[in-house]
Amino acid sequence: MSERLSFTDLQPRPADMRAEVTAGLSRLPKRLPPKYFYDQRGSRLFDAITELPEYYPTRTEIDILERYGSEMADLVGREVLLVELGSGSSSKIRVLLRALKPAVYMPVDISREHLLEAVTALARGFGELKIHAVCADYTAPFALPAGLGDRPRAVFFPGSSIGNFDPEEGRRFLERVGAILGDGGRLLIGVDLIKDFSVLNAAYNDALGVTADFNTNLLRHINRELDADFDLAGFRHEAFYNSVESRIEMHLISLTEQQVSLAGESFFFHEGESIHTESSYKYSIDGFQSLARGAGYEAERVWTDANDLFSVHCLRFAGVGYGTDGEGGAVSDDSKRQ
Ligand code: TRP
Repeated sequence: MSERLSFTDLQPRPADMRAEVTAGLSRLPKRLPPKYFYDQRGSRLFDAITELPEYYPTRTEIDILERYGSEMADLVGREVLLVELGSGSSSKIRVLLRALKPAVYMPVDISREHLLEAVTALARGFGELKIHAVCADYTAPFALPAGLGDRPRAVFFPGSSIGNFDPEEGRRFLERVGAILGDGGRLLIGVDLIKDFSVLNAAYNDALGVTADFNTNLLRHINRELDADFDLAGFRHEAFYNSVESRIEMHLISLTEQQVSLAGESFFFHEGESIHTESSYKYSIDGFQSLARGAGYEAERVWTDANDLFSVHCLRFAGVGYGTDGEGGAVSDDSKRQ
């Protein structure tokens, strides 16, 4: 690698994956961690999802970034260490890089080969940019590589991936992001908005079946990595909006009574039994800002598209303790429903 491009590998080991997968399949209802969607094939399928006509979030967020990128850069600051969590193909950051001019861009992603391809392409397009890629699971606590100096930091967390945590986990995650940022650091975060159910349902049930393939790919990844024997044709994709919880739920439904073996253990499925593979919570602007306040952030600015499909927030980390009492208001259980 060149001196402009460096790489740190903190990818989860197969033993960690095995422990998480068997724990999830031992629960009732069964569940699997969504981060394991993203082997190389899964990352490519996700890129295909982002281009589907039904999947509005990516293109809407990119429109917002294109339109307001220079305002965002004014708030976030330039010459920062810019950390992106779940950088995928690094396509969204391209929109912001010319305005932001970060001192270092640090993409963090769990999908190693996909990350390496993405940063190699990015380095080619942005001749001056310093890139330090980190392969890591950002849902677990992790330390940034040492020796980054004390320049100001900013975090970019697009794609409404915050919605893949439940609200309390999301609040704790934002607190951990605060520890990366330090007091006064800015978080630029994309959050999908509550909207008409039919639009939400279509976004997760595309006509071509790419989403179904993406969901099932989780089982394919587990088969390969953990030597399991899931029958891919024995499960079907199901996604629907749960309006009580304000979330899309993704499931894989067992079509028959069947048994799957994995790491010397057997897992039994009834016909019609589900594995809950992911949730995607949707927020109102106020509901999300109140969640962020509960994690110690001040809401500085929010941008949306003309149809109010999606939002991008600039949040300023004010320190743990901010917003947990007094004016900011603690996050209540139903913050997501406001
Ligand atoms: N993080 C994406 C989202 O919540 C992931 C996603 C999109 C997804 N489509 C999916 C996950 C279908 C499982 C199945 O929007």
